[in-house]
Amino acid sequence: MRAAVETRPAYDVRKVREDFPILSTRVHGKPLVYLDNAATSQKPRAVIDAMRSYYETLNSNIHRGVHHLSELATRAFEAARLKAARFLNAADPKEIVFVRGATEAINLVAQSFGAGWKAGDEVLVTHLEHHSNIVPWQILRDTRGIVLRVAPIDDRGEVVLEEFERLLSPRTKLVSVAHVSNALGTVNPVQRMIKLARGAGAAVLLDGAQAVPHLPVDVRALDCDFYAFSGHKLYGPTGIGVLYGKAALLEKMPPWQGGGDMILSVSFEKTVYNRIPHKFEAGTPHIEGVIGLAPALDYVTGLGLAAIAAHEHDLLVYATAALSEIQGLRIYGTARDKAGVLSFTLEGVHPHDIGTILDQEGLAIRTGHHCAQPVMERYGIAATARASFGLYNTRPEVDALVAGLRRVREVFA
Ligand code: ALA
Repeated sequence: MRAAVETRPAYDVRKVREDFPILSTRVHGKPLVYLDNAATSQKPRAVIDAMRSYYETLNSNIHRGVHHLSELATRAFEAARLKAARFLNAADPKEIVFVRGATEAINLVAQSFGAGWKAGDEVLVTHLEHHSNIVPWQILRDTRGIVLRVAPIDDRGEVVLEEFERLLSPRTKLVSVAHVSNALGTVNPVQRMIKLARGAGAAVLLDGAQAVPHLPVDVRALDCDFYAFSGHKLYGPTGIGVLYGKAALLEKMPPWQGGGDMILSVSFEKTVYNRIPHKFEAGTPHIEGVIGLAPALDYVTGLGLAAIAAHEHDLLVYATAALSEIQGLRIYGTARDKAGVLSFTLEGVHPHDIGTILDQEGLAIRTGHHCAQPVMERYGIAATARASFGLYNTRPEVDALVAGLRRVREVFA
């Protein structure tokens, strides 16, 4: 008998675009060219419909009612948890904690996993982290005396692994690193970093906010302890995200917020906490967010993350070559392994002016420090302009970006 071979249709970006209603919008009379996907992505109709349908047919609180709607909503909510577990290849849905986003996930780990840390205990991050993977550790440094170590990056925007290794020690409680840099696009060699961290006896948290929309992630193959991501960068709703944590760790960790649903029983003398993951989900959760996240996971899984990665890589290579031709343009972040992010400056033009002129052409990019001020400081600049690609972007949109940048050049000639 012949083995079944999985076949997927070729990546049809024109068809993909039809799934995103907002992409037919016009901005200042021009077709929208949305290149700000690292800030937030647009939503496919399936996500929008699921959220509307939730309010039209299911709306009720979960885990609390015996009535029909509450049971249906609870079932849909927990089905989404199972989907998120499968998406990350977690061993069990109880390892999936719903949070507001990657930022909240990292804060949860800091406050709960870090609850027993003492002065002198260390957390190791890298120089390319987003503020959300810096400030939660600084809060612990300022309140409890932990030490924050920072592995440097080189001019390409790659972590200097020898330095990373040198900074690990028996005092390192946690290595907390971005899987993909939002400001530079660097894909960190996380497999290798996790091995090094394990060698030092440290736990590992990966900030996957910029990774999950672009690459397949398998938390068991990676063997990380925690993995954080946000729904809204993954074509899902805002205000919802996931913290994956190994069950053995989550079970030992204290709750970080108290309230309804995270308890089994409460009296004034004693409270018994709920099982994981509910122990970490106090209060009524973002139910429609979770319900909207499920079709977003289905959407990217349906297209295939490897196919999405290949499509975006093509755009990155095409755009890098085209932008490099523009006089006075400098690209920041030239890592050998890079996701679809192009951070750049244009000599003699403030990045905000680039953004404003491009906006007049219907082009949406981000300008500023991208919530990664240490990265800017590393290159001695205050800000960059950043174009970031998503699964619906096209080569003609890159051409529009190049034409827009030539227009900026003319204005500032
Ligand atoms: N962290 C998001 C970005 O990089 C908001 O734009």
